[in-house]
Amino acid sequence: MNYKNLGNSGIKVSSLCLGTMTFGDGADAAMSKKIYQTSRDRGVNFFDCANVYAKGESERILGKLIYEHRDEVVITTKAYYPTGNTVNDRGLSRHHLTKELNKSLKRLNTDYIDLYYMHCFDTETPLEESLSTLNDFVKQGKIHYIGLSNFAAWQVMKAISIVEKSNYEPITCIQPMYSLLKRQCESELLPMAYSEKLGVTSYSPLGGGLLTGKYHNSNVDGRFKTSEMYQKRYDDEVTNKTVDRFIKFAMANDYDPVSLAIAWVSANQTITAPIIGARTVAQLEPALNSLTIEMTKELRDEISGFSLTPTLATDRKEEQLST
Ligand SMILES: NC(=O)c1ccc[n+]([C@@H]2O[C@H](COP(=O)([O-])OP(=O)(O)OC[C@H]3O[C@@H](n4cnc5c(N)ncnc54)[C@H](OP(=O)(O)O)[C@@H]3O)[C@@H](O)[C@H]2O)c1
Repeated sequence: MNYKNLGNSGIKVSSLCLGTMTFGDGADAAMSKKIYQTSRDRGVNFFDCANVYAKGESERILGKLIYEHRDEVVITTKAYYPTGNTVNDRGLSRHHLTKELNKSLKRLNTDYIDLYYMHCFDTETPLEESLSTLNDFVKQGKIHYIGLSNFAAWQVMKAISIVEKSNYEPITCIQPMYSLLKRQCESELLPMAYSEKLGVTSYSPLGGGLLTGKYHNSNVDGRFKTSEMYQKRYDDEVTNKTVDRFIKFAMANDYDPVSLAIAWVSANQTITAPIIGARTVAQLEPALNSLTIEMTKELRDEISGFSLTPTLATDRKEEQLST
């Protein structure tokens, strides 16, 4: 396992991060323990969570798993999405962030979160209020680093400009979606992250499971059988074509598609660690094996050719932004 500095910070994280969204939702406590232990045995020290995963159960399960060796692991959690029915049970207000961080600390059974994310941009709360709240959390020792997930590049830059002007703790990391099927972050977010020396832990490297190729078989079970959100997110002709081409290529060249798809994400120089997700140890193994694939430039370019290169942040096509 390789370890990298998380953005411009001193903390070192494994080049794969284990997502825990399945803990308590697909994987029960016993299976979550096996998934966690297998990852640890292979050198993973970086675990991603959120307050809303399995309605708090993912944090509870992860909290029990890390308790004996808390200082050996780097854990994240997040807040933004609704946790109740009142108007203030959501968003990035001082009220909601404070309440949710304290609940996360309790469920995770810890005094501190290594990396605390705002899970999404909040159009109804001044960003200054959210960032001053997170700055206070760092000062109180409750969180160590600040991250932003699902923010557009201009929103990240707005946050950076506020923390610099106000002398708040810096933004250390972003968490966008990124896979062969979802490449929008290549046009602005990744070049921005590279330029600002931000860590990037990207999620859904398998397109929620589509890049496993398993949905070619209609009897298989998986997220796309039950989740309307995922069906909508990936429901288009281009995606289907990309999956077909990718799976044919993987099979013809003797690659496990799971390993290949994750290695393709890792090979982007701006990515610190893709966040892998699994519901069983059998699903996890090929994800961990992605580290053994030698992703040459030629191989990466060939695979990139199976999907659409995203529109650049300029209409001057000849002036490519480098990532
Ligand atoms: N910041 C955010 O907004 C955000 C959003 C989503 C996720 N995340 C984070 O990123 C992590 C990973 O996201 P993700 O789960 O969407 O990643 P993903 O890698 O795109 O999908 C993982 C899913 O693919 C299926 N799968 C994985 N390996 C497989 C295998 N070998 N064979 C068959 N199916 C396999 C499993 O789902 P099924 O068994 O259900 O098919 C598994 O849960 C999450 O745990 C979470 O920590 C963050």
